[in-house]
Amino acid sequence: MTKNTRMTLAKRPLGEPGDDCFHLEQVDIPELDENQILIRVCWLSLDPYMRGRMNDVKSYTDPLQIGDVITGESSGVVIKSNSSSFEIGDKVAAHMGWQSHIVANADDPRLMKVDSNNGSLSAHLGVVGMPGRTAYFGLTEVGKPKAGETLVVAAASGAVGSAVGQIAKIKGLRAVGIAGGPEKCRYVKEELKFDDCIDYKAGNLAEELAAACPDGIDIYFENVGGDVTKAVAPLLNKGARVPICGYISNYNDEDITKAETPFHILKALDEVPEHRFFVVTEWNDRWVEATRLLGSWVSEGKLKYKESIGEGLENAPEIFRGLLKGKNFGKQLVKIADED
Ligand SMILES: NC(=O)c1ccc[n+]([C@@H]2O[C@H](COP(=O)([O-])OP(=O)(O)OC[C@H]3O[C@@H](n4cnc5c(N)ncnc54)[C@H](OP(=O)(O)O)[C@@H]3O)[C@@H](O)[C@H]2O)c1
Repeated sequence: MTKNTRMTLAKRPLGEPGDDCFHLEQVDIPELDENQILIRVCWLSLDPYMRGRMNDVKSYTDPLQIGDVITGESSGVVIKSNSSSFEIGDKVAAHMGWQSHIVANADDPRLMKVDSNNGSLSAHLGVVGMPGRTAYFGLTEVGKPKAGETLVVAAASGAVGSAVGQIAKIKGLRAVGIAGGPEKCRYVKEELKFDDCIDYKAGNLAEELAAACPDGIDIYFENVGGDVTKAVAPLLNKGARVPICGYISNYNDEDITKAETPFHILKALDEVPEHRFFVVTEWNDRWVEATRLLGSWVSEGKLKYKESIGEGLENAPEIFRGLLKGKNFGKQLVKIADED
C-alpha cells in the first residue's frame, strides 16, 4: 500500500541547515473523510523563507516545531476525491509542506485549483505562483512604479527578481539587475531584456551600479540585503521607494536578530527612502486576478522564466542549501513524481 513520504524538522539549524536538521519518514495515508481529497505531489517549491521558519523565532507567522513537516508549497494531481468540488485528475497547488501525498479538506484555504490556461503545474509554483505574485504586488503596490523611472533588483535571475525586472519593463521603467556571475547576468540582459545587469561577485558593484543608473535609483526592490543594499543606498533618489521583500544574505546567520538588516542601512541615510517589509499574502484576495495577468504575460512572451529542477524528496535538503548560496538558476523546484 502506498505510503506518504515526508520530510520533517529534526533539529533547529545554527547557520546552514545540515542533514541532521531533516528527517525523512514514511507514514500511512489515512482514509478520506467526507469532503476530503488525496493529492499526489509532483513538484515541490523550495523558497528562501523556509530557512526562517526553521528558527525558533516568530516572524509574520509561527515557526516550525520539531517534528513538523517542513513548510512549503507544492503542486500535484488529485488521485482520490470525496468532494464534489474536485475530480480525479484535477491539478492543484497546496501549501502543505514537503511530502509526497496530501490529504486535504476541499475547502482548505491552503489549497488552490490550478487552471492550466495560466501555465503549467510547475509554473504555478514560480512565475504564475507565489513568487510571481510577490513580484507583481511588491512592485506595483509598494514600489508604485512610474514609466521612465529606474528600478534595481538583486537576485535578478531568480524566481522573484526575474519577474520584478520584466514587470518593470512592461510598465515602462529602466530595469537594472544584480546577479551572481557572468552567466546569470548574460541571461538577465539578453533573454529577460533588462537594460543592464551587474555581477556583484566581480568586485566593483558600487562603480558599475552608478554607471548603470546615471539618473539614480527610484525603486530598489530588496531581495538580498547586506553589501548589495550598501552599494544601492547612496544612489537612491529623493522620493525613492524600497519594497523590502527579503534579505537572503542574512538567512543563514547564527543569530538573525543581530544582523544589520536593510532597515538599519536605509534608516541611517540622510534622506530616508519610503520603505516597508511586505508579505505576498497581504493580497491573497487578489490571487486569481494576479495569476491570470501573469499567465497572460507569459503566453504573450512578455514574462519569461527559468526553472532549476532537482529530483527526489530525499535530495531536497541539499538542494535547499544550494538555493541559499545561489546555486539555483531560476525558480528552484524538486520533482518528486510524474504528472501522468
Ligand atoms: N515577502 C514575501 O512575501 C516574499 C515572497 C517570496 C520571496 N521572498 C524573498 O524574495 C527573495 C528572492 O526569493 P526567490 O524565491 O526569488 O529566490 P531566488 O532568487 O530564486 O533564489 C535565491 C537567490 O538569492 C541570491 N543570493 C543568495 N545568497 C546571496 C547573498 N549572500 N547575496 C546576494 N544574493 C544572494 C542567489 O542569486 P545570485 O546567484 O544572483 O546571488 C540565489 O539564486 C528572498 O529574499 C525571499 O525571502 C519574499
